[in-house]
Amino acid sequence: MLPRRVRRAPLAPPFLPRMTSPVAWRPDGTPHSPLFGDIYRSVGADGQGGLAQARHVFLAGCGLWPPDTVQAAPATSASRFTPAQPSPAAPSPAPSPEPSPLAASRPAPGPISQTPDAADPREATHSSNVEGSTPLTSLSEKRESTHTAWSDHPHWHVLETGFGLGLNFLATWAAWRADPQRPARLFFTSIEAHPVGAADLLRSAQPFPELHDLAAQLAAQWQAMLPGVHRLVFEGGAVQLTLCVGDVRPLLREIDVAVDSVFLDGFSPRLNPEMWDLPVIKGVARLARPGTRVATWTVARALRDHLQQCGFVLERRPGLPPKRDCLAARYAPSWVPRHLAQLRQPLSACQAADRHAVVVGAGISGASVAASLAARGWRVTVLDAAATPAAGASGLPAGIFAPHVSPDDGRLAQLTRAGVRAMRRRCADLLVPGQDWADTGVLELPVGRERRLPAAWREAALAHAAHPGLDSSRPAQPDDAPQWQADVARQRLLASEPLWHVQAGWVRPAQLVRAQLALPGVQWRGGCQVTRLSWHDPASPPAAAPGTTAPAPQPAAAHAAHAASAAAPQGTGPGLAAPAGSPATAPRRPPWSLFNEQGQHLASADLVVLAAGPATAALVQPWCAPAEFPTHRVQGLVTLGRDSELDAPGTASDPADPQPAAANAAPTPPVNGHGSLLRAIPGDQGAFWCTGASFLRELPRGFDAATIAAEHQVNLDRLDELLPVTAQRARRLWRAGQVWHWHGARCTVADRVPLVGPLQAPEHTTRTPRRSAAATPLSSAQAGHAASDSPGDEVQALSLQAPWVCTAMGARGLTLAVLSGELLAAWLHGEPLPIARSLAQQLAAHRFMAGD
Ligand SMILES: Cc1cc2nc3c(=O)[nH]c(=O)nc-3n(C[C@H](O)[C@H](O)[C@H](O)COP(=O)(O)OP(=O)(O)OC[C@H]3O[C@@H](n4cnc5c(N)ncnc54)[C@H](O)[C@@H]3O)c2cc1C
Ligand SMILES: C[S@@+](CC[C@H](N)C(=O)[O-])C[C@H]1O[C@@H](n2cnc3c(N)ncnc32)[C@H](O)[C@@H]1O
Repeated sequence: MLPRRVRRAPLAPPFLPRMTSPVAWRPDGTPHSPLFGDIYRSVGADGQGGLAQARHVFLAGCGLWPPDTVQAAPATSASRFTPAQPSPAAPSPAPSPEPSPLAASRPAPGPISQTPDAADPREATHSSNVEGSTPLTSLSEKRESTHTAWSDHPHWHVLETGFGLGLNFLATWAAWRADPQRPARLFFTSIEAHPVGAADLLRSAQPFPELHDLAAQLAAQWQAMLPGVHRLVFEGGAVQLTLCVGDVRPLLREIDVAVDSVFLDGFSPRLNPEMWDLPVIKGVARLARPGTRVATWTVARALRDHLQQCGFVLERRPGLPPKRDCLAARYAPSWVPRHLAQLRQPLSACQAADRHAVVVGAGISGASVAASLAARGWRVTVLDAAATPAAGASGLPAGIFAPHVSPDDGRLAQLTRAGVRAMRRRCADLLVPGQDWADTGVLELPVGRERRLPAAWREAALAHAAHPGLDSSRPAQPDDAPQWQADVARQRLLASEPLWHVQAGWVRPAQLVRAQLALPGVQWRGGCQVTRLSWHDPASPPAAAPGTTAPAPQPAAAHAAHAASAAAPQGTGPGLAAPAGSPATAPRRPPWSLFNEQGQHLASADLVVLAAGPATAALVQPWCAPAEFPTHRVQGLVTLGRDSELDAPGTASDPADPQPAAANAAPTPPVNGHGSLLRAIPGDQGAFWCTGASFLRELPRGFDAATIAAEHQVNLDRLDELLPVTAQRARRLWRAGQVWHWHGARCTVADRVPLVGPLQAPEHTTRTPRRSAAATPLSSAQAGHAASDSPGDEVQALSLQAPWVCTAMGARGLTLAVLSGELLAAWLHGEPLPIARSLAQQLAAHRFMAGD
């Protein structure tokens, strides 16, 4: 049972995604919302108004754009915002890393509303509020034109209410690119109740050539914008967009890290009051650090009152004509803000220059964690008991990555969708398409008449209407997988609701393991079976446990560099200093040591991540009882054969077998159901097919000949339920001794979602390993880092005193491992999470541990 603190709260508000675009385009190019009766932005006299507003109101308002580079010009009656004139001071865009596909793939214009232009409600709201009596202080500061608020910060986090057409995001991304002093990483979190379609994003960016390439990249990742949290990644991970789809109020509570800039960009407060009310501003203030800046185009009186009430100091800024003013504010409460203690911060070890992590297990989980940590500057050593990587379940010759679907679009559905997104991106970055993986789509033949698609998706599909869910999974059409038509149709098409998973595909997981282990910063060492790990207080003298060799100290440079990295970003964590009493020249002993069965020291590290599949349970015992880490070992076997033989004359010559050889005509999508079939997978000895897999909890005799034969039989029987003709051929090959097998063991847990994160609940501040000789009760300074007054420090230090875990991928490791690695790294680094916080909590590794 889950501990009290893990609540199975709804993952997203009950927001119904719209089946049609929320945007109507006016003839002059103004995007308008019939739902709210307001415009997304004004086009301006020359069509450049949207970008001018993004730069002047939002970027400059938050100190992210030189304020003098937007020139005011007389307004026309049709425009609220005047175009930005090119300015010598404006930074020129950085060269684009990729040619813009936008020009070639520009979409046909969307439906244009014939509604006559009404008086601009945002303008009306503006003019009715400038007379308000809440005082606005003058904007006094003048920055160097080249210096922006994020200059020289390692990362920067922008929060936006109202993603709309993404123009503010694109303008921010473009400004980041153009700024030589940009932060290494840009996090942009935006909340949107009614996502537009990809075509609208592209159309919105059309007037701005400098944004075309970026808009095309955004549109390319714009799929399945269903309620929940979506992580889109650009610039090789340097720019992360976390798009939260749903109502602003509950979604603000899904964010748990501080933000540096806030763009408030709802529709007019008069027409869209729920976007600007006090609970929303309180929700924003809860994420602010002292100094966080807010910018918005409206100076509505109520908003100014709310901001002031929540601790913001207001600044008057000149508006873009015809607006006289726009609003900026800075978080400077007159009280000590307590909420910062509740926000996640990067663990202090994450800021050390020479941070070293050891990952135990070189399967897809361990390799994915290693890749995510290395991308964040960790030196990572991956230890594995075997002589080659991917020796466990990840040695599976090929498998499927695909989303789970359920009528309620529940947590597994949301999690696996996010997993598929992350997996596709990692594969696209590191693997050869068609050779190591392919996003062919996957045909699913559910067992029986069970209806699995949410009703709204199915209705939209029947009505041929757009629905974001259909970007992910939809009722299968005959031409989705023509190769299987003849085979499936006779038996199953009418008996179930076949599904087509649009984004899914197959992968050879060992290829991804190797590619991730080869990334810079990652070192893999085989033949290292870890049997014991211990944590020690770095401040105390080394004490080797009986029968072990003591770990060697590490070079002093690490701590000196550690101290030098004290220039932490404002508000993102405590500054670091060399630990008291530890001179810069003293040898550094990382707190973790790992040993093999002979007691030999294998490695030392600041952080240990256990990703050893079913063997993880034995390694975590010092930190939790078996019942608190209730994983199981579930074995399975797949049946394989040469792809050419599945179609060869002589095997397919049965007159009852109507299907001609079709394997090599087009990429053949896998078929999934109760069992699966993959065809034409490139292998070292030619293309192969693969079917399975069986599930075995008890295996007293191991995989002896009788068990293997029985498991082939199980796999072929299941294939018969999916694709009878193919099953018949495969059975002939089996009888002719022309198949082989592969088996492995999954690590599963009863609630079917992975275990990710530290094995120590944050509130268990006094919890220590139960039977580790080296472990002692700890204080916050004992993790090798200076104590700090910063709230949350205690949690940080304690969290590294327990091992972190990334395992229990069950039968979905190919879908969930990359996402789990990213989640673990985001937790560690105090970054925005790639999934909703309430969902992430349900993956917490400590979720089965007893409370205090
Ligand atoms: C037959 C079968 C078919 C499957 N099909 C699919 C599929 O189609 N789609 C899908 O998504 N998933 C599938 N899975 C599940 C998927 O393979 C797993 O979820 C995934 O590979 C788990 O990866 P992992 O890295 O967590 O564990 P593993 O790959 O098992 O890696 C654990 C590693 O830890 C090492 N290790 C263990 N103990 C120690 C120690 N003490 N010290 C050092 N190293 C140690 C092992 O050598 C191993 O390399 C299938 C699994 C099986 C068995
Ligand atoms: C002015 S538009 C945003 C424009 C956008 N920032 C851009 O750069 O293109 C306002 C957006 O707020 C969204 N919105 C309105 N009410 C909302 C709510 N309660 N929660 C979340 N989003 C909301 C609307 O759907 C709309 O997309």
